[in-house]
Amino acid sequence: MPSVKVDLADHSYQVEITAHSLSAPKETSAFLSSKQFAIISNQLVADLYLEDLLKSLPSDSEVITILVPDTEQSKSFEQFIRLHTKLLEARFSRSSSIIALGGGVVGDLAGFVAATLHRGCNFIQVPTTLLAQVDSSVGGKTAINHATGKNLIGSFYQPNIVIIDPSTLSTLDDRQYAAGMAEVIKYGFIEDEHFLAWLDKNKEHIRNKDDRTLELMIARCCSIKAAVVSADEKEKGIRVLLNLGHTFAHAIENISGYGIWLHGEAVAVGMLLAAKLSVEHQWMKAEHYFKLEQLIKYFNLPLKLTAKINVDEVIDAMYLDKKNLNKDLQLVLPIKPGLSEVKSWTDENYLHKLITGFIPEK
Ligand SMILES: NC(=O)c1ccc[n+]([C@@H]2O[C@H](COP(=O)([O-])OP(=O)(O)OC[C@H]3O[C@@H](n4cnc5c(N)ncnc54)[C@H](O)[C@@H]3O)[C@@H](O)[C@H]2O)c1
Repeated sequence: MPSVKVDLADHSYQVEITAHSLSAPKETSAFLSSKQFAIISNQLVADLYLEDLLKSLPSDSEVITILVPDTEQSKSFEQFIRLHTKLLEARFSRSSSIIALGGGVVGDLAGFVAATLHRGCNFIQVPTTLLAQVDSSVGGKTAINHATGKNLIGSFYQPNIVIIDPSTLSTLDDRQYAAGMAEVIKYGFIEDEHFLAWLDKNKEHIRNKDDRTLELMIARCCSIKAAVVSADEKEKGIRVLLNLGHTFAHAIENISGYGIWLHGEAVAVGMLLAAKLSVEHQWMKAEHYFKLEQLIKYFNLPLKLTAKINVDEVIDAMYLDKKNLNKDLQLVLPIKPGLSEVKSWTDENYLHKLITGFIPEK
């Protein structure tokens, strides 16, 4: 079974990736040292996978389950306080464990609760969407949203272990699965040209959700993320490269109203915009752009924006990006598969032309 280590100075941990492993007894210290577990999930995921997860916990442990609504709005102060109240009422201590069972919404919220309960209790990630399995469950970013923006309140808090069962993706709907594939393609492009070629070769198995292929694909993504996080846990340097396409993507999501575009869908178009910019400035060969476009198309991700998008609003929203330095945009731009760079950007007229080129004609 593939296993990836996230190597950090004082809190390294394993990411275990095995199909059909959800109900298998968990024998690692993260489970054995704890006698109290809180599983945080939502109704949809709990109906599918709670029973299996319960089977895997030590038989002498006390387990409570807390469900949150199945929406991005659960990353809120209200749910944060509600979860703390339930855990304190159940007399959870620092040695108790919180398990996040679900996608990135549940993982981000449960992680921030784990980071703050008694200044930090045990935290176990059991991600069940592709996006959460390749991205949000690894690396320790936890957050809730504020009225002024997404993920503005949170902390870096690493889990004790991440347990990934790729067979849970069999129940994920096609649109969510494709959105996760945008992040997978991103890994291929930023870090590893061999992985990009592997994705291309195995694309049919990936689309058919073949267990073994998914184990290998998810393990590769987690090891790329683990290497970046190990080198730069708090995003002061190279971790920013994981944001390829994300300055455009966050702006598209932001102006469209969250929920209209799935994050991965916006990342797909964001990567194409960044790649087109690189090609038009002779920093990247056009053939790499076409490779990226082909993969994005194969996984039914969008290649264009929608006619409703207002280009000035996209550009204004790009200036809200956390990565910006003083007043300049910082764009992660692909140079070739396996190599991306961060460049300061000031030419708004060019951006206007670039984004307009991605709006379909009426
Ligand atoms: N912490 C990080 O590093 C990081 C990185 C990227 C994104 N995020 C956050 O992740 C969130 C998005 O996560 P997401 O894309 O996983 O969305 P999500 O958590 O909303 O899950 C998407 C949908 O899939 C359902 N679902 C989950 N697992 C399922 C399964 N196995 N079968 C059927 N349905 C299933 C969920 O109930 C939900 O309806 C956002 O809040 C984003 O900010 C965090």
